[in-house]
Amino acid sequence: MGRKGGNDESSVSFGAVLAGLFFAVALYCATDPFKHSAIADFPDFETYYVELPSWSEIPTERDSDNLLQKSKIMFKDQVQGPESVAFDPQGRGPYTGVADGRVLFWNGESWTDFAYTSPNRSEICDPKPSILSYSKNEHICGRPLGLRFDKKTGDLYIADAYFGLMKVGPEGGLATSLSTEAEGVPFKFTNDLDLDDEGNVYFTDTSTKYPRRNFLQVVFSAENTGRVLKYNATTGETTVLVRDVYFPNGVSLTKDGSFFVFCEGGKGRLRKYWLKGEKAGTTENFALLPGFPDNIRTNDKGDFWVAIHSRHSTLASLEAKYPRLRKFLLKLPISAKFQFLLHIGGRPHAVLVKYSPEGKLLQILEDSQGKVVKAASEVEEKDGKLWIGSVLMSFVAVYDLY
Ligand SMILES: *[C@@H]1O[C@H](CO)[C@@H](O)[C@H](O)[C@H]1NC(C)=O
Ligand SMILES: *[C@@H]1O[C@H](CO)[C@@H](O)[C@H](O)[C@H]1NC(C)=O
Repeated sequence: MGRKGGNDESSVSFGAVLAGLFFAVALYCATDPFKHSAIADFPDFETYYVELPSWSEIPTERDSDNLLQKSKIMFKDQVQGPESVAFDPQGRGPYTGVADGRVLFWNGESWTDFAYTSPNRSEICDPKPSILSYSKNEHICGRPLGLRFDKKTGDLYIADAYFGLMKVGPEGGLATSLSTEAEGVPFKFTNDLDLDDEGNVYFTDTSTKYPRRNFLQVVFSAENTGRVLKYNATTGETTVLVRDVYFPNGVSLTKDGSFFVFCEGGKGRLRKYWLKGEKAGTTENFALLPGFPDNIRTNDKGDFWVAIHSRHSTLASLEAKYPRLRKFLLKLPISAKFQFLLHIGGRPHAVLVKYSPEGKLLQILEDSQGKVVKAASEVEEKDGKLWIGSVLMSFVAVYDLY
């Protein structure tokens, strides 16, 4: 009897301890006294509901052979955060934009400086040991993301996260600004672009709230201030084509120029914007992806390669549905980096998917453990090879298709 009573007592006190603990955690989260949370520096941070595709709609295809693990790692530690990989009209390159703000050119033997986006570079932009240490000076040094060559003129168009839409001649050097705002609202996070035969540019501004260095806050917030834009080469005017987009990212025109596809990162889908025909000026869904996309590139056949930053995860789905739960979790003393790792399903991995111009899934390549390739940002197909860039890694991966 005495024993039993003792057990009751301890279970009561255990309950009290639990309640106390719960209260302490709740209080901690409400006040975050030590400013350890992922959103401590963002007093206006808010979380929003975002409707993700249901699990039954998400493609279930997998590359069980993890074929991407056969990729070759190139230029290790010679390029930091090579988001976009492009070749010039003569087929030379690649060219890539790196974390310190330069656009580099591989001349076949070594990397040389090709272009830069900031008129105001100084020693604070010099190479550093870690990719993450660049972010605080990005607004001074520039951060080139999407790159595209004009096949006729050889001009390189650059989406710089801080300096907006830019262009530099075939000889390189300091890029000139084409556009920094639309409808009076400045770009905060210019991300990717594509251009048509007349030099009109279709591009994305990921957020009007957060700059690139705070891309995790865009992800965690699920805000939809992103815009898809058009720069008219004749008039020099920029107009908004699509607004209220959740993390708009990659943009790629179809081979015949009748539409372009853009990645809606926050929803894990591709959308299509009609440029020609009776549907011109309207958008529709193009494909639901197995995860959250970064860039998209069209190959010679007209198919689209999409780099998936991470697959859908149970936690990401729950967090999308319950923004208050998300905010609560974000107030725990867990770093933004670790919160992001949880969000992407525990470990960086790589998924590349290829879609036909009709939106049919044609091919999927993976490294589900992230052993060789992880956090892919872009995939550029050239001469039977896939060139895979990553904004978070210090190399380019090359996968042989045949
Ligand atoms: C130029 O860079 C310095 C720091 O190196 C910075 O203080 C200054 O604001 C920058 N000027 C412009 C116009 O960006
Ligand atoms: C650019 O503007 C001109 C003049 O208004 C117009 O004729 C042309 O169709 C526009 N181009 C695009 C791609 O919107």
